[in-house]
Amino acid sequence: MVNYSTLSKSIEMTYQEGRFEVVSHARELQLVGTGRSAFVFRIIGTDKVLKRFFPTHNLASEEGGIYEQLSGIPVYARHFHTGSDFIVIEYIEGTTLFDCLVTGTLIPSRAIESVDQALDEARDRGLNPSDIHLRNIILTPDQKTRIIDVARFRQVDPCTQWDDLKQAYRLLYSKAFFPKRLSEPFLNWIADLYKGRLFESMKMTG
Ligand SMILES: Nc1ncnc2c1ncn2[C@@H]1O[C@H](COP(=O)(O)OP(=O)(O)OP(=O)(O)O)[C@@H](O)[C@H]1O
Ligand SMILES: [Mg+2]
Repeated sequence: MVNYSTLSKSIEMTYQEGRFEVVSHARELQLVGTGRSAFVFRIIGTDKVLKRFFPTHNLASEEGGIYEQLSGIPVYARHFHTGSDFIVIEYIEGTTLFDCLVTGTLIPSRAIESVDQALDEARDRGLNPSDIHLRNIILTPDQKTRIIDVARFRQVDPCTQWDDLKQAYRLLYSKAFFPKRLSEPFLNWIADLYKGRLFESMKMTG
């Protein structure tokens, strides 16, 4: 098998119109996701992904170190390797909670409880779980939840994002009247509104 570093080096990206785009990559890789700081590739034929950070947001050693701190807690993806600009973690099959809302896949209440418990365990290990949003949690085919992005768990500032999501689940989503399927533009609009509110409150406190 090709080594991880060679795989990472095969990924060429460009910056166009305000965002990074993948130009080419080794044929052993398959793009499975894009975030604000990285491209995520499955290493074909394995249960691993290679998360390659954008040059402007290289959080490889930060996130790799956090995964080490979380090692053994089953809700978090397993961590295999940290490189200079990438990490290799477990590939998690399933649907992000964001896509569950878009496709109308029911999110069971025990999925929320299990994330809650995993975040408490991270706190017990001295971390401050932050940036817990719907695209960072995957619901697996056997109805378990897994957390796949821990890059901001050492953030010092308080983050209420998960508490707000839990509230929305309890007050709205769990009610029979609330639609279980929502359009993607609507969800992105809510997310933008939410970020705007955070920005406003930061301006007021800053
Ligand atoms: N271990 C994994 N298994 C399967 N898919 C994954 C995995 N890790 C990431 N992905 C997919 O790639 C997307 C981006 O990954 P990730 O959240 O780690 O990137 P990021 O740049 O840190 O994100 P953010 O925008 O939250 O900062 C995820 O939303 C998910 O769809
Ligand atoms: Mg993410």
